[in-house]
Amino acid sequence: MDTTLNALLQLYEQAGDRMYAGEAVTQLAHAWQCGRLAEKSGANAGLQLASWLHDIGHLMSAAPGTPTLRGEDDRHEALGAQLLMPIFGPSVAEPIRLHVQAKRYLVGMRESYAKKLTPDSIRSLQLQGGPMDAVACAQFETEPFFFDAVKLRVWDDLAKKSGWFEDTPEAALGHLASLMVKVKAQCVTQI
Ligand SMILES: [Fe+2]
Ligand SMILES: [Fe+2]
Repeated sequence: MDTTLNALLQLYEQAGDRMYAGEAVTQLAHAWQCGRLAEKSGANAGLQLASWLHDIGHLMSAAPGTPTLRGEDDRHEALGAQLLMPIFGPSVAEPIRLHVQAKRYLVGMRESYAKKLTPDSIRSLQLQGGPMDAVACAQFETEPFFFDAVKLRVWDDLAKKSGWFEDTPEAALGHLASLMVKVKAQCVTQI
């Protein structure tokens, strides 16, 4: 595996056992659960990888405690997308960039979707601009990666289950490494 992919993997090796701020899962368990839900749903390798890596920006920002309680939005979706775009291309980076907007879209389209959100996610929703209005929802639907972003978001909101982690951390990271190599190879052949 090349040095760039190794550096990404190291972020999870070093910070994966950190608790996901405000939630009952670690960063690694949340990433694993989201990736597993994508895999079970038949997502292609790029979207599986986006699901795995969608919160990598949280690991990069390393803000202490629970930022939403201090009224902070760490803009993790932008950080992650910026990092991953040159490595894996838009099929991975774009659903990640849009996954916060997708929450605003889902609650805007269906108020009851908010019941699926954890208290931390509801706090961050307000910091991120609140539910989208009808005009913003229609605009969001024109995004080329709209469908993938919404799918990723639904898995994201289901991937905060305490105690659901069927792999050892080593096996989970091994799976992530293989997925990164596979998607990077696909990305290179498309250029
Ligand atoms: Fe996120
Ligand atoms: Fe997440």
